[in-house]
Amino acid sequence: MTINRKFPNTRLRRLRRNSNLIDLVAETNLSSQDLIQPIFIKENFNGIESIESMPGINRFGIDEVLKEIEEVIESGINTIAVFPVVESDKKDSKGSEATKEDNFISSAIKTIKKNFPEIILIADVALDPYTDHGHDGILINDEIDNDATIKVLIEQSLILAEAGADIIAPSDMMDGRIGSIRQSLEDSNFKNTILLSYAAKYNSKFYGPFRDAVNSASNLGKATKSSYQMSIHNKDEAIHEVAIDINEGADIVMVKPAMPYLDIIHLIKEKFKIPTFAYQVSGEYSMLKLAIKEGWLDQKVMLESLVSIKRAGADAILTYAAKEISKEMQNK
Ligand code: PBG
Repeated sequence: MTINRKFPNTRLRRLRRNSNLIDLVAETNLSSQDLIQPIFIKENFNGIESIESMPGINRFGIDEVLKEIEEVIESGINTIAVFPVVESDKKDSKGSEATKEDNFISSAIKTIKKNFPEIILIADVALDPYTDHGHDGILINDEIDNDATIKVLIEQSLILAEAGADIIAPSDMMDGRIGSIRQSLEDSNFKNTILLSYAAKYNSKFYGPFRDAVNSASNLGKATKSSYQMSIHNKDEAIHEVAIDINEGADIVMVKPAMPYLDIIHLIKEKFKIPTFAYQVSGEYSMLKLAIKEGWLDQKVMLESLVSIKRAGADAILTYAAKEISKEMQNK
């Protein structure tokens, strides 16, 4: 049937007459269940410390983080992603602390899961919180050594799974790490541990505030992650990355950053039809938040940015604004 779209038979404004009508025909709906709250937990610290380059976002001591998580849950969110802020004297060139069974993040995960057994907890796998050079992997002769790094990531993953992480999220971009981690999880009887692969993770300048938050910026200095993170110029390569990670055993794939990469989110979801997450990263959050704080943009831009990410095809979104937006949606 050919549709004869002719005025006045068709008046698109009929369905825009009031907000109830607009909501009724909305194609994309964002809900609290789509949002994941990243949380920074700081070692050997009590209380709350604000992060200058991320307005409204804090580093929490383990005492305070439980209250924060309670608030996140009350807002309607079921999933958190935890990132450790490691003491600088525990960092070394190999990121040794990452593979110590009783390290800070594994005890934090145990405490969180004991207090909130129902929460879905995502734990990041990568060495950058633990290395004194700020890279995600092992440096050998001034290069990040892929295969040496994988060995360490396997150990790190097993420790996080053992601690009770529901989802393990390798964010390091080494080749072959999903397959190796999956195999090791299977061999160690962690058959239900979910692998969320940061599959299409770009070498983006939007990660700046995050690196401040975990104190890795100064360690990294002028170095870049261009030998492992994807070139911002590429799209086909994202398909390649995702296909490989699915074959290696990823349950969920992620595109990161989100708003400057909506084309990639759309492409991956359309092509693979598997759970696809997007990470609205620190720089995306901070630039909107600062403009809102200054009064240059309406605070609704945050919601708009998340709806656009969902509309592009993301099934769920990691965003620093998760709790705030979730509350906002509840009070609507
Ligand atoms: C570490 C990691 C990074 C982010 C998540 N995990 C930083 C990086 O790759 O340098 C960025 C998150 C953000 O900017 O919000 N592997």
